[in-house]
Amino acid sequence: MILGERIRLRAVEQDDLERYVTWFNDPEVRKHLEMILPMSSADEEDWYQNMRKSPPAERAFAIDIRDGNGWTHIGSCSFLHVDQINSLAEIGISIGEKKQWGKGYGTEVVRLLLKVAFETLNLNRVYLRVYEKNMRGIRTYEKAGFVLEGRLREARFSEGSYQDVLIMGVLRSEWTAGKEKRG
Ligand SMILES: CC(C)(COP(=O)(O)OP(=O)(O)OC[C@H]1O[C@@H](n2cnc3c(N)ncnc32)[C@H](O)[C@@H]1OP(=O)(O)O)[C@@H](O)C(=O)NCCC(=O)NCCS
Repeated sequence: MILGERIRLRAVEQDDLERYVTWFNDPEVRKHLEMILPMSSADEEDWYQNMRKSPPAERAFAIDIRDGNGWTHIGSCSFLHVDQINSLAEIGISIGEKKQWGKGYGTEVVRLLLKVAFETLNLNRVYLRVYEKNMRGIRTYEKAGFVLEGRLREARFSEGSYQDVLIMGVLRSEWTAGKEKRG
C-alpha cells in the first residue's frame, strides 16, 4: 500500500475489474480518455492479465478513499513508459466514481504519484498527456505542480472535431523546491 492523507494506492485485484467495466463504459468518464469504444468484461480481463506481466513499476494502482473505518475503490492510476536510462515516466489517472470528482482526490493522487516517482522510483521527470478540453484534468495537474511543456496540435479527434493534446511535466528540481516551500 502507498498511503496518502485521505487515499491509498494498492495493487489492482480481479474483484475490481467489474467496476472498471462500469466506469470505462460511462461516456462522461471516457470522454477525456484514450479509449473511445465500448469495453467488455473480457477486454478488461485481457488488460488485467497483460498488466500483471508488465514491469512492476508500470502495474496499475487502484485508488481507494477512506470511508469510515474502511476504504472505497474510486479509480485507477499508473506510471507508463518508465524509462530508466533517462529517468522519466508518464502518469495516467481516472477517477471512475463521478460523485467523487471535484473533492481534491485527483490532486492528492497526482501529488502522491510524484512523491513515489521522485522518492521511490528515482525518476527525474514525470509527464502526462491531457486533452485541451479537459479543464478539470488540466487544473488538477497545475495544482499538483505540472507545467505546460508543449502541445501536439490537433492530435485528438473526438465528438466530430480535433483538439490539441497538451504535454505537461514536472522535474525533480521543481518538485523538491515546491516541497521545501510547502514545508
Ligand atoms: C481529472 C480527474 C483525475 C481530476 O480529479 P478530481 O478529484 O476531480 O480533481 P480535484 O478535485 O483534485 O481538482 C479539480 C479542479 O478542477 C477544477 N475544475 C473542475 N471543472 C473545471 C472546469 N470546467 N474548468 C476549470 N476548472 C475546473 C476544480 O474547481 C478543481 O480546482 P480547484 O481546487 O482550484 O477549485 C478526475 O476528474 C477524473 O478522473 N476524470 C475522468 C477521467 C479523466 O479525465 N482523467 C484524466 C485524463 S488526462
